[in-house]
Amino acid sequence: VTPAGAERRVRVEPASAPAYDVRIGAGILRRLAGDLPELLGAAPGRVFVALDAGVPGAFSAPLLDGIRAGGAEVSCWTIDPTERVKSLETLGVLLEKIAASRLERREPVIAVGGGIVGDIAGYAAASYRRGVPVIQCPTTLLAAVDASVGGKTGVNLSIPGDAGGSDLLKNMAGAFHQPVAVVADVLAFASLPDRELRAGLAECVKHGTIAGDWGDPDLFAWTRRTAAAVLARDEAALIECVERNVGVKARVVAADERERSDTGGRALLNMGHTYAHAMETLDGVGASGPDGPLEPPLLHGEAVGLGLIAAAACSRAMGRVGDDDVASVRDAVNACGLPTAVSGLPGDDALVARMAHDKKASGGRLRLTLLRSLGRGELISGPPLEAVSAGWSAIRA
Ligand SMILES: NC(=O)c1ccc[n+]([C@@H]2O[C@H](COP(=O)([O-])OP(=O)(O)OC[C@H]3O[C@@H](n4cnc5c(N)ncnc54)[C@H](O)[C@@H]3O)[C@@H](O)[C@H]2O)c1
Repeated sequence: VTPAGAERRVRVEPASAPAYDVRIGAGILRRLAGDLPELLGAAPGRVFVALDAGVPGAFSAPLLDGIRAGGAEVSCWTIDPTERVKSLETLGVLLEKIAASRLERREPVIAVGGGIVGDIAGYAAASYRRGVPVIQCPTTLLAAVDASVGGKTGVNLSIPGDAGGSDLLKNMAGAFHQPVAVVADVLAFASLPDRELRAGLAECVKHGTIAGDWGDPDLFAWTRRTAAAVLARDEAALIECVERNVGVKARVVAADERERSDTGGRALLNMGHTYAHAMETLDGVGASGPDGPLEPPLLHGEAVGLGLIAAAACSRAMGRVGDDDVASVRDAVNACGLPTAVSGLPGDDALVARMAHDKKASGGRLRLTLLRSLGRGELISGPPLEAVSAGWSAIRA
C-alpha cells in the first residue's frame, strides 16, 4: 500500500530526447505547479493548459491555482473530445489559441485529459514554434498506461470514403514529441465512467500479451487477477497497474522510440490494433458489456479487447499458440468487463482490405503483431489470409 500522497516514478529514456519521469500516485497533480521551474529549467511566465471537458473542475483547479500562485499567467482551452474533433481543424484552432496566449519557446503546454486531448495538445506543442515543452497529465486509465507515455502525438484525417461519406484515418498526421514529464494522478479516475475504465484495461491486457520480453512476465496473469480491484478503483491496485504498464511501455519505447524495428520493438504495442482499427470506425457494429448492449460507437479500448482475441485466434490458426491461450486472452478481456464478440461486421474480404489500409501495413503487405507464445509478441509480414479470417471468426457474434 502506498502511503497517502507518496509518488512512484518510472523513468522513460528515449534515444533522441531527454529522459523524463512518469509520476504516479494519488493526489499528486497539485504538486506539479511547484515543480515547473525544475522541469523547465526556469519558472515559466506563461502556461497553456489544454483541458478535457470531462474532467471535473475540482480535479484540475488546484493545479491551475497553484500555477497562478507561482506567478505564471495561465491560458485555458477546453474541448469535449471525440475522434471527429481530433482533427486538423481543431489543431488549427488550438495552435492559434496558443499563439494568442503569447506562449514562448520554453513555456509549456500542459494537457489534462484523456488520450484525445493528450494527442492533440502534444501535436500542437510539437509544432508551435517548432516545439515547446509538453507535460502530459492523463485523466483516463488508457491515457495513463499508454497514450501519455512515449511521445506519439497526432490527429485523425478524414478522406472521402468508398461508400460515400468520409473515412476517418486514425492518427494519420502527427509527430514524435516526448513530454518533459507525465503526471498520472489516479484520483482522476474517480469520475471516469466505468465503461472508460474498462476500455483502459484493454491496453493493460495488451501489455500483458507482450510483457514477457519486456521485464514483466507476470503482467498478463496479474492483470487478469487484479482487474476487479482496478474496476472497483482500489487505489493501490490502480497505482500498481499504472506503474507496471508504464514500465513495460517505457522499456519498449527506450528500445525503439520511432517504431523503426522490423523485428518488433514498438510495433509490438500494436497487438490487436490492426483488427481494432478495421472495426472501430465502422458504422453498424454492436457489442455487449456486463450491463447489456453498449451504446455505439465502440470505444477504442473495446475494439482493442476484441482485437486481442482476434490476434490470439490468428496466432492459433498459424500454429503459434494453443486453444488454451486463445481462451486465456478471451477470459482476461471478459474479466475486464469488455465485450468478447461483435455483431454487424462486414465479410472477411472487406475487413482484410481495411486492415491492409491501416498504416501498419508496409508496401501493401499486411503486417500483424501476433503471439509467439502467450506473453510474447512478434511482428509478422504477410500472414496467411485464412489465419487472418480465423481471427475475425473468433469474435463474430
Ligand atoms: N499517443 C499514443 O501513443 C496513443 C496510445 C493509445 C491511444 N491513443 C489515442 O488515445 C485516444 C483514446 O484516449 P482515451 O481512451 O483516453 O479517450 P478520450 O480521450 O476520448 O476520453 C474518453 C472520455 O473520457 C472523458 N474523460 C477524460 N478524463 C475524465 C475523467 N477523469 N473523468 C470523467 N471523464 C473523463 C473524456 O471527456 C472523454 O469523453 C484515441 O484517440 C487514441 O488514438 C494514443
